[in-house]
Amino acid sequence: MSEEMLSQLSPVWPHFTPIIASRAEGSYVYDQAGKGYLDFTCGIGVTNTGHCHPQVVEAIKKQAELLVHGQINIIVHEPILDLTAELKKIVPPTIDGFFFSNSGAEAIEGAIKLARRATGRTNVIVFQGSFHGRTVGTMSLTTSKTIYRAGYQPLMPGVYVAPYPYAYRYGWSEEQTSQWCLEELEFLLLSQTAPEETAAILIEPVLGEGGYVVPPADFMVGLRKICDEHGILLIADEVQSGFGRTGKWFAFEHFDIDPDIIVVAKGIASGLPLSGVFSRLELMEKWEPGSHGGTYGGNAIACAAAAATIRVIDEEGLLENTSERGSQLLAGLGHLQEKYSEIGDVRGLGLMVGTEFRTLDRKPNKKAAKGIIQECLDEGLILLSCGTWDNTVRWIPPLMVNDEQIQQGLDIFEKALEKTQS
Ligand SMILES: Cc1ncc(COP(=O)(O)O)c(C=O)c1O
Repeated sequence: MSEEMLSQLSPVWPHFTPIIASRAEGSYVYDQAGKGYLDFTCGIGVTNTGHCHPQVVEAIKKQAELLVHGQINIIVHEPILDLTAELKKIVPPTIDGFFFSNSGAEAIEGAIKLARRATGRTNVIVFQGSFHGRTVGTMSLTTSKTIYRAGYQPLMPGVYVAPYPYAYRYGWSEEQTSQWCLEELEFLLLSQTAPEETAAILIEPVLGEGGYVVPPADFMVGLRKICDEHGILLIADEVQSGFGRTGKWFAFEHFDIDPDIIVVAKGIASGLPLSGVFSRLELMEKWEPGSHGGTYGGNAIACAAAAATIRVIDEEGLLENTSERGSQLLAGLGHLQEKYSEIGDVRGLGLMVGTEFRTLDRKPNKKAAKGIIQECLDEGLILLSCGTWDNTVRWIPPLMVNDEQIQQGLDIFEKALEKTQS
């Protein structure tokens, strides 16, 4: 029955594994035959507390018995207030305005609408390799792969693209990359979109789908400075990098800068659909009541799951665990890079780690990355690829992963590297 129904699902969804899951727990998903897989994808950076964390499941069950849905324009429910109180503890003190929606793309659209209303300006600058979603608005902001845009153009106008400081791609030092990218950004503001018509600069503080690239700290500091000089709002897309993924609540904290608007989704609610736009209330007050909204945004069960998620990350010390396990993973992969020349670069923050595959003459090596992912899957480890050339293996284990599981992942990866050599 499952197989037959599988063929009825829209082919627009590619399936990276043949797994039909019957259940999942912690770092593992189990297929219908009961075979366990070490899940280092977390449903693309969503189940940060591990699959079906008991405290999150309990919060979902409890809320389901009390109130499933209460549309925010009609009634306010307790979980949204509880969640806002939890969020207030983890965002920068300047952030005191919270809006909720359902998906990352929807929240990015919300952030752009907010920036336009708050500044009275129209244009947006994004970065090469960025992924911000698949709606008409957000695919206009997405530049990681042509497949996300092809056949759907023309897109939303008013979007300008600056280079992301991807030092390994350019083969430059971090300092040189950072300086050049800041100069190019200034050049864009002189040549294509004047500051007076630029509402916002939107950036992933760690590039996700575009290749798991960590920007140099001085680039992020320089970016903040350019925004301040020109009254442009800085929007951090923390959809993939937020909620502990990099070892801090938000990735921008690594660079000691505060964005004006923070966009979150994925990890916020451990798997329930919830996203958010957070900013200074003073900005949101320029957003005329009723000029943005939605039926489901801030759903009661999703908010209850999100409040529980934040408590679990805090109470179980998952930020510390993420930093420690991330260092273990980076060290292990660094060791493998010395042994296997096809690993061109190993990079990441916390448990947002990428291994980029290149040929000996430094050409992107998608074949190697994909072949290794397949070998790992055969051995019970689920990994994903990313990057414009699909040549980077991304590691997104749950934040509660333990050292044995990281070592097990590394062992399987090495076995796959070994096998693809022969
Ligand atoms: C950085 C980033 N922004 C936005 C999105 C879009 O989120 P969603 O798929 O929930 O619409 C994603 C999804 O992968 C993402 O990684």
